[in-house]
Amino acid sequence: MEQHYPFSLPPLPYAYDALTPQLDQRTLHFHHDKHFAAYVDNLNKLLSDQPEYQSWSLEQLCWDWCQLPDDIRQGVRNNAGGVYNHDLYFKIMAPTPASTPSGDLAGAITRDFGDLQALKDAMKAAALGQFGSGWAWLVFDREGRLSVRKTANQDTPLPLCPLLTCDVWEHAYYLQYQNRRAEYFDNWWQLVDWPQLSETYRLRRSTLPRCPND
Ligand SMILES: [Fe+2]
Repeated sequence: MEQHYPFSLPPLPYAYDALTPQLDQRTLHFHHDKHFAAYVDNLNKLLSDQPEYQSWSLEQLCWDWCQLPDDIRQGVRNNAGGVYNHDLYFKIMAPTPASTPSGDLAGAITRDFGDLQALKDAMKAAALGQFGSGWAWLVFDREGRLSVRKTANQDTPLPLCPLLTCDVWEHAYYLQYQNRRAEYFDNWWQLVDWPQLSETYRLRRSTLPRCPND
């Protein structure tokens, strides 16, 4: 998200019923319109009387939050991360995704994981292994090497470049799946927009100096 304060809620990139049966309309409504929106609102409130930080990009707020004043530091860490993570989460799903990665990304998955099933297994282990609320990630470094990570709460994997993320906060799945996080993950995996990710990997690899800490 190429934004500065004041941040705005990106619209859901598809209809609320477009991801059924994997994610139902009620889940998407609450997740996007209530939870995601709350992170945007809270981040704007935190920065509303902090003009010196209103020019910071969302990525800078996420990876440089430790430089912020005491009274907003943890709040910005939580809410900027909440905006950044949800922005990616909703964008990497699609109603009718193609089934496999292509191009450079397909080659990188083979090189770094062996095959797509091995990547899924690693992502699922991260998603199920995250104790409490958090995120599972597929990221790449400045050499384009892929790896799977997990983060707690709303922390991001920056400065590694995020490519794919699965929200494992209960608010992402509890209405539909209750405590069945593994079932949620398996169904979410079917929604991954591999054509988009393949293009993102190709483009961002060519602009890696834009990644934080470069
Ligand atoms: Fe969420």
